[in-house]
Formats: sequence, C-alpha cells, structure tokens
Amino acid sequence: MTENRSLQSIRGTRDLLPGETEAWDVVEGIIREVMGIYQYREIRTPLFEDTQLFTRGIGEHTDIVNKEMYTFEDQGGRSLTLRPEGTASVVRSWLQHRLGAQGTVNKLYYLGPMFRQEAPQKGRARQFHQFGAEVIGTDAPEADAEIILLVLAVLDALGLETWALHIGSLGCRECRPGYRDILVEFLAGVESLLCEECKERMKTNPLRILDCKNEGCRLATAKAPSHLDHLDEGCQIHFNAVQALLSDRGIPFTVDPRLVRGLDYYERTTFEVLSPDLGAQDAICGGGRYDGLAQMIGGSDRVPGVGFAAGIERIMLALEAAGVELDFEPICDVALVHIGEAARQRLFALCDILRRAGVACTIELFDRSVKAQMREANRREALLALIVGENELKDGMVTVKNLVDGEEEQVSFEDVVSVVLEKLEKMDDEAVDEEPQDWSEEDDGSEPEPGEAA
Ligand code: HAM
Repeated sequence: MTENRSLQSIRGTRDLLPGETEAWDVVEGIIREVMGIYQYREIRTPLFEDTQLFTRGIGEHTDIVNKEMYTFEDQGGRSLTLRPEGTASVVRSWLQHRLGAQGTVNKLYYLGPMFRQEAPQKGRARQFHQFGAEVIGTDAPEADAEIILLVLAVLDALGLETWALHIGSLGCRECRPGYRDILVEFLAGVESLLCEECKERMKTNPLRILDCKNEGCRLATAKAPSHLDHLDEGCQIHFNAVQALLSDRGIPFTVDPRLVRGLDYYERTTFEVLSPDLGAQDAICGGGRYDGLAQMIGGSDRVPGVGFAAGIERIMLALEAAGVELDFEPICDVALVHIGEAARQRLFALCDILRRAGVACTIELFDRSVKAQMREANRREALLALIVGENELKDGMVTVKNLVDGEEEQVSFEDVVSVVLEKLEKMDDEAVDEEPQDWSEEDDGSEPEPGEAA
C-alpha cells in the first residue's frame, strides 16, 4: 500500500511564490535590458543534455562532474544529465548550428535553472538560477574586459553597489603543463599535510588543491607557486591587456594568484565577483576564457570564447542584505463591486470586456458585502471601483469611483469601457502620486457580514 504522506518540494529546491515572482521579474527585466544595450542576444538551450557534454566539457575530475550531477538513464538507455551550468550547452549549440559560419563574433546570453547536487545551505541550492553571457569567436582581451564590464553593469542597474572583483589567469595549454609540474613538485613536499580528497586530487586535478577550503590544505599550500609567475609571453600580454582595460574604466579589482575555478575548461582569464554581504557562499558571479572547450566537446578546431554566469538567488540575497527595494507597479486598475446576484452577472461580462481592452480587473467571486469588496480593492491598490447595485441596474448605470480622490460619477453601461480607459490614461499621464485610499468604511447601507463590525 502506498503511504499517504504529504508531499513536499525536494530538498535544495524552492517554490517562488507570488510576491517573489514579481521581484524576480523585475530583476530579469533589468538583466534583459542591459544585455540588449550591450548587444547580446538570448539563447535557450535544453535543460538536459547528453551526459558526455558535461563530463568532457567541465572535466571528469571536477567536483561538479564527480559528485554533483543529476544523471539518469532515459527509457532508451541513454545517459542524460540536467545541465549543471550553461557554457558547455551554449558552445555545443554554437557548433551544432554553425553560428560562427560567417566568421562573426557571437554574443549570447541565457537565463534559467541549473542543477547541482550540492549540500544545500544559504545561497546554495540544488536547483538554482543563473544568468550568463558568452562571447564566442574572438580571443581579443577586449572581449574578456567587456564580459566583466557587462556583469558589473547588470549589478549596477540592479542597485548592488558593494562587490569585490577578483581576477587571475590560468595560462594556456602551452604554458600550463610546465606550471602543473612545478606545482606538483611543490605539493609532493607537503602531501602528508593535505586532506584525503586533496591527496586524491594530486593524481587527478592538482590545480584544484589551491581551491580547497580545508584549513590544513590552505596552510600547507600558502606558499605554493602561482600560475601568474609561470605564464608564457602571449598569456602575460593578454592578462596585462585585460587589466589595463579594466583600470582604464576605473574598475577596482584584486589580482588573485589562487583563483582556480571549479571547471576544467578555463584558459587564460578567470574571474569572480564576490559579495561581502553573503557569508560562506559569497560568489555571485564566476567566469573566464575557454578557448579549448569547443574541441573538448567534439569541435574540429579551437574556438576562442569567454563568458560569465551569475547566481540569481545569491543576487537576491545580496540585494536584500543591501536593503535594495525592487519596485514593481501595482497591477490592478479596476475593482468591480456588486450588490446582489443580478449585478454580479452583469459585472462578470463587463469585467471580461475590460480585460480584453487591456485593463487589469479584479471581481468578487464570493458574495461579500460592499465594505468587504472595497477593502479588497484597497488591498490590491485598484485605481477605480465600478459599483453596481439594484438602483444602478434599474437605471442602466454604473457608479465609477476614483479610489484616489474619492470622486464618484454615474456612467451608462454603454459608455463605461471608454470612460474607464480615459480615466486610467489620465491618471497614468498625471502619474498620480497619491495612493488609492480605503473607502470601505463609508456607509454603504449594507448589512454587516457575520463577524464584521458594523
Ligand atoms: P560557476 O562559478 O560554477 O560558473 O557558477 C556561476 C555562479 O552561479 C556562481 O558564482 C554562483 O553565484 C552561482 N551558483 C553556482 N552554484 C550554485 C548553487 N549550487 N546554488 C546557488 N548558486 C550557485 C559557471 O557556471 C560557468 N558556466 C560560468 C562561465 C560562463 N564561465 C564562462 N562562461
């Protein structure tokens, strides 16, 4: 027998409820606006992909691939994975659809859920949301700098002023093997001090040891050689150019010799934007250059690319901590208020006509008193109330009440739609500063509801 327990959302996932969804809409709207200004176009890739896209793209020995992927077999025995990030999918799509065929530079952005089975905590979820951008087709340092400027422009447009930008360079496939040997030699000398996981990483992914959060590992590697001292000439020139472009725009940054990042596709530039308000999960954005990724996932040539992704949940937390209010417009124009069954029917039709004309309306679906209906109108911050009772019905009229200044007029049923549209336009033009008021305490002559004070 199946147990009839009450079902809950899965740990590490969250419902976004009304109130939150509007705030998210505001944030997403600002992101899209800034992306448009910077001339990035949206790409939407599937939520699941062939597992190999991520094992090959992100790297078999990364935490994401080793421990965090939601991988499953479908009915046809194919191994599929819910996307843990967006870059591999975007580059896959770029290759598949030959988006670079004309030798153009593609500037793409995306926004949507990602999935990683990490231990949930504040700012860390299993289904979380990223927005990100990728420039594919150029290795110009301006592309790296633009990507960083772009995410900072979004943060600025959102009103998030406090952040710290860390940048580094991981070198390229030519200079990195040499650095790796030097690092491994150093690490061999401190191996006994490393945690078990890092001892394993010595064989698989020694660079990640520099990123281990374990205190013992951090102490043991405090004096480890840095990539930054072992860049070849091309990587050094590129890194210097990115820094010069940022400095030229007055962007403060810290060069971080230990910035490793958790994905294997990076070459040259890496960066993170941290928020001082977030505690342990303080990275709101991460990114970098990935000139080898296209080839890692089956492309015939190397394709230069650089991008970033930022976590929307963490940005929401940072905005909250910084006290930034996300304004959203009241979404109710008109409340339809009835007295009696016949009026209710008549208003139901009028309500739909108004909605078809683009007017946001609310209508009573219970039989509450006029007072209660007016209170509801106030709660929704409606600008107008259309009130119909027996008298109005008899005369073919509607009482149109302006809920901001309290003025009322009688309008015929035939004219009411155009009068409402006119009034709303006028109120919009005048950008009425005053809030709608609560007119429910006016004596409407109706009987009080049970439990309601007369
Ligand atoms: P990432 O650093 O793995 O990079 O993720 C980017 C951002 O996503 C993080 O800085 C964080 O804000 C957010 N994030 C990551 N994991 C979680 C989680 N479990 N819960 C909440 N937020 C999270 C990438 O994903 C790369 N694709 C970035 C990139 C684009 N590189 C080049 N292009």
